[in-house]
Amino acid sequence: MRIIRVAMVSLLLLMIALPVYAGGRLTLYCSPQIDWCELMVNEFEQRTGIKVRMTRKSSGETLAQIRAEKSNPKGDVWWGGTGDPHLQAAEEGLTQAYTSSKFSELNDWAKTPHKATGGKTVGIYMGGLGFGFNTELLAKKGLPEPKCWKDLLHTAYKGEIQMANPNTSGTAYTTLATMVQLFGEDGGFDYMKSLHRNINQYTKSGSAPIKSAARGENTIGIVFMHDAVKQGVKGMPIQTVAPCEGTGYEIGSMSIIKGARNLDSAKKWVDFALTADVQSMAASVKSYQVPSNKNASVPKEAPDVSSIKLIDYDHAKYGSKAVRTGLLAKWDRDVKVLPR
Ligand code: G6P
Repeated sequence: MRIIRVAMVSLLLLMIALPVYAGGRLTLYCSPQIDWCELMVNEFEQRTGIKVRMTRKSSGETLAQIRAEKSNPKGDVWWGGTGDPHLQAAEEGLTQAYTSSKFSELNDWAKTPHKATGGKTVGIYMGGLGFGFNTELLAKKGLPEPKCWKDLLHTAYKGEIQMANPNTSGTAYTTLATMVQLFGEDGGFDYMKSLHRNINQYTKSGSAPIKSAARGENTIGIVFMHDAVKQGVKGMPIQTVAPCEGTGYEIGSMSIIKGARNLDSAKKWVDFALTADVQSMAASVKSYQVPSNKNASVPKEAPDVSSIKLIDYDHAKYGSKAVRTGLLAKWDRDVKVLPR
């Protein structure tokens, strides 16, 4: 009798709990800033009834995690982060092809990674690399305003600059690959070595250097320009710089993980994340990337990419396993270990 009662109570509890998951589940690996990740998750759950389990990690870290979980995948979708590691994930067979019904609404630059990988990754936003500085700290320390990449090598900035570690962060890998494309491989590494003398810390996440500058704990942060603009719009004393030599850019991307346990939910997420009105919501959390859907509104605060000297960043080359792994190993060997 007692067993029957326990069984009936358990069944009842299960019936109460079931509707929560009636729409399914999704495990999301998210690489943009956490406030945008949370906004997207809430909106998706409301629209679909699918329950999302989300963790935020930087782009390089996420690639490493997906690779480590290859034989027993735990994630379904990797949303956001710089495109290079998404391209590498596709090359390594860690992600799988999907073409959303929204694909035709995308700008060409967002379609390129999809075409290059047989559909395994697609562009969701674009943003140019640059740096930002704390105007109050700079004035207090009597430092000149940096305008160019080469300005950052000045001895006056010793200990005043922060960037992320290119192994963990897509932002920092974009920085390394940009210097190699601007100044050649030898010139690019000479640049990174000189810059190293002025770096106070290599952070894990790409946007951390400008957040610490906003808090007054660091003077200059090498970040995507939209991340610096975000701090300025928040009222922090941060000025954004588009470097005079020209600069690289990211095609923020999204991929479905191979072996995803919740494939239907994953496809729904991709469709959702490529939808114009969903992309337009980014500005409400001060994420000022250029959206990939042509019908999404470009935030008025987004750095005007038409007036910034963008280099012809070779995503296919710098997102390839051989080149990316090679540059990172060389940075670890020749730059990171140098005294500061
Ligand atoms: C910030 C930017 C994104 C970029 C991301 C990469 O969140 O706003 O545009 O894709 O950094 O993060 P990571 O930590 O890998 O540099």
